[in-house]
Amino acid sequence: MKKTRAVISGVHGWVPDYVLTNRELETMVDTNDEWIITRTGIKERRILKGENQGTSVIGINAVKGLLEKTNTAPEEIDLIICATVTPDMPFPATANIIADGVGAKNSFSFDISAACSGFLYALTMGSQFIETGMHKKVIVVGADKMSSIIDYQDRATCIIFGDGGGAVLLEPTEEEIGIMDSLLHADGSGAPYLHMKAGGSRKPATIETVTAREHFAFQEGSTVFKFAVTNMAEVSAKIMDKNHLKAEDIAWLVPHQANKRIIDATANRMGIGPEKVMLNIERYGNTTAGTLPLCLWDYESQLKKGDNIILAAFGGGFTWGAIYLKWGYDPK
Ligand code: UT7
Repeated sequence: MKKTRAVISGVHGWVPDYVLTNRELETMVDTNDEWIITRTGIKERRILKGENQGTSVIGINAVKGLLEKTNTAPEEIDLIICATVTPDMPFPATANIIADGVGAKNSFSFDISAACSGFLYALTMGSQFIETGMHKKVIVVGADKMSSIIDYQDRATCIIFGDGGGAVLLEPTEEEIGIMDSLLHADGSGAPYLHMKAGGSRKPATIETVTAREHFAFQEGSTVFKFAVTNMAEVSAKIMDKNHLKAEDIAWLVPHQANKRIIDATANRMGIGPEKVMLNIERYGNTTAGTLPLCLWDYESQLKKGDNIILAAFGGGFTWGAIYLKWGYDPK
C-alpha cells in the first residue's frame, strides 16, 4: 500500500499596510539605518495599527485569501492550527477566532506556542493528522503581531521585529511529494535569554510589572545569535544527511528571517548559494511564526512541483528544527 503524505496545496500571506522604516526608528531610539542594515539585513517592517486588531486579523486575512485561491469552501476545513506567541488573548486560542472569522464551521482549532519555530511545529503536527487518514483538509497558520509585545524604547529588540503571517493548506497525496521529514528540538534552559517577564501565571500583571516594562519581549541578542547560528545550521545539515540530499539536490532553503547573518551561516553550512535562499527580511523583519509562510508566499510563483525544499528555524524556548518537503504544484 502506498504511503499517504500531506502536501501543501496552497499558500497565502498577509501583512498590514503600515511600513515602519529604519529612518522612523532613528527618531524613536538611538540607532541608525546603516547599523540595522549591516547587523540584521532589515530595512523596514510592517505594523498592524488600530484598536482591537490582534493576530487573528493577520490569520483571517491570510486564510481567506488561501481559501479563495484554492477554491476551498470554509466548511470543508477539518482543522486549523495557529502558531503564534502573540495570541489575541491568553485564551481562547487565536485559531478558534480565525476559524470563526473565515466561517470554518466544521473545523476544530488550536494554537501552538513555539515562537519562531512555531510554523515548523504546526506544519509537522498538521501533516500527521493527514498522514493518519484522520483529516483531509488542514490549515496551518503562522502569524504574529510582534508590535504588541515590543518595547519601542529598547533598541536591541524594536529594530528586528514586525507583524505579519501566512497560511498553508495541507491535503493528502499518494504521490512522492509533500512533507517528507521533520526534525524538531526544544531546550527550555534557553528561556532566560528570550522571554516575556510578566503577564503569565508566574508573574501576573500588576501596576509594578507595567511600570517596569515587563510585558515586552526581552532578548539577550548576542547569546541568542550564537545558539541560532549553530543550531539552525546544524539541524539543516542533519536533515540533508538523513535524507541523502546533496546541496545540488536542494531547490530552496526557506530560513527563518531573524537576521541575515544567521541565514548566511545556515546556507554556507549546507553548501547552498544565495540564489537558492528565500529572503524577505529586508521588507518584513522578523515576524516570528510568520516568516516561513510569508517566504513561501513571496516565492510561490518560482516554485515547481517536486522541488526539494528545506525549511529551518530557531527561536524562543529555545526551539529549533528543519522540515524537508517536496513542493506540491507548479506555478498557476
Ligand atoms: O527570532 C528569534 C531568535 N532571535 C534571533 O535569532 C536574533 C538573534 N540576535 C541578533 O540578531 C543580534 O544579536 C542583534 C541584531 C539583536 C544584535 O546584534 P549584535 O551584533 O549581536 O549586537 P550586540 O547586541 O552584540 O551589540 C553590539 C553593539 C553594542 O554596543 P557596544 O557595547 O559594542 O558599544 C550595542 O549596544 O551594538 C550596539 N547596539 C546597537 N547600536 C545601534 C545594539 N543595538 C543597536 C541598535 N543600533 N539598534
